[in-house]
Amino acid sequence: MAKNVYSYDEIMAEHDYAQPHEVMGKLLHGGFDAEGNYISPRMLHRGPAVAQWASNLEARGGKLIDASQKLLKRDNYPNHAQQKFLLQHGLGKTLWDSLTLTGIIEGRGKVFSDVVGPDFQEFFVEDISELAVGHLNKGLHHAHGRDEGGMDNSDIGAHDEMWFVVRDLLFGKDAFAIPTAPEEIGRPEMGRLFPQISKTLEEFLLIYMNILMVEVRAEKMFSFCCELFRDPEMFTDRRDIAEQAAQMVERIRQDEAIHVGYLQAVLSEMRTLTFKTVDGGTISGSELLDPVWEGMVAYHSTTVYDTAREQTRASIVRQLEKLADSDQLIAEFDRLETPLAAAAE
Ligand SMILES: [Fe+2]
Ligand SMILES: [Fe+2]
Repeated sequence: MAKNVYSYDEIMAEHDYAQPHEVMGKLLHGGFDAEGNYISPRMLHRGPAVAQWASNLEARGGKLIDASQKLLKRDNYPNHAQQKFLLQHGLGKTLWDSLTLTGIIEGRGKVFSDVVGPDFQEFFVEDISELAVGHLNKGLHHAHGRDEGGMDNSDIGAHDEMWFVVRDLLFGKDAFAIPTAPEEIGRPEMGRLFPQISKTLEEFLLIYMNILMVEVRAEKMFSFCCELFRDPEMFTDRRDIAEQAAQMVERIRQDEAIHVGYLQAVLSEMRTLTFKTVDGGTISGSELLDPVWEGMVAYHSTTVYDTAREQTRASIVRQLEKLADSDQLIAEFDRLETPLAAAAE
């Protein structure tokens, strides 16, 4: 019989690493096996558990919601060619800022470690003890938060520190000033989206949906970084260091796969469950969740990119304006942008 129920300690348990994960003198989370392969933190049971819950769902006739790159309808801004253009004109600040902000925002994910969700069983007709949903408060939240922001009072770096290492590998420490991070990135307040259920449950559902889309967008950023760092025409005086930076991004990417995995499993399971409504009735999960999920996907796949594009372009234009022939450079930079239709394919 497959194991479907795990304790908190099992979900949080780590592999026995053969080698610690240390880069630039900084101790980081995860570790290496005897063959030198990177192992993500807290994956001894969490990895197999999420895979098992997902396959159980499919065996029951449920299906996993799409959490792939196909959901995204915009290219990165600036795209590969534009970022290359900026770096070749000595403008590293945009990449520096984006790596720094990614680290700062990742670190904020630590709040997930302090969150104890409501007793989810109360909201469903079916028994959830053998499902991913039944393990949200049994380590899934906490492991996620620790992956992003690290353990309390520990000098082992998590994703925040890992992005700063990537940045410092590429540019050297203190190459530019540290940018100010925006307040919170979340969807603007839209009133009650699930009036049928309790406000607390609604808040948690929206957090899961929002974070899942943030993770899907992050995956796009990882491919972008790896391709850029591995471009033989980039960082030509330090190709080996750029390769090291790309490997660090691959490790973060490997760690993130479980975040997409468990959130995808949780939301997919919830679609097959029956929710108890506040008026004493019930509603099927798919009927409740699908319309809101569609809106969430649309928001992250277009609106978020379009808003960020405006701000990023304004900052890039300000940098280009300081160079000779700036009008021509700005026009050339804009010409390199990925057309909307091509990005949406
Ligand atoms: Fe992360
Ligand atoms: Fe994550």
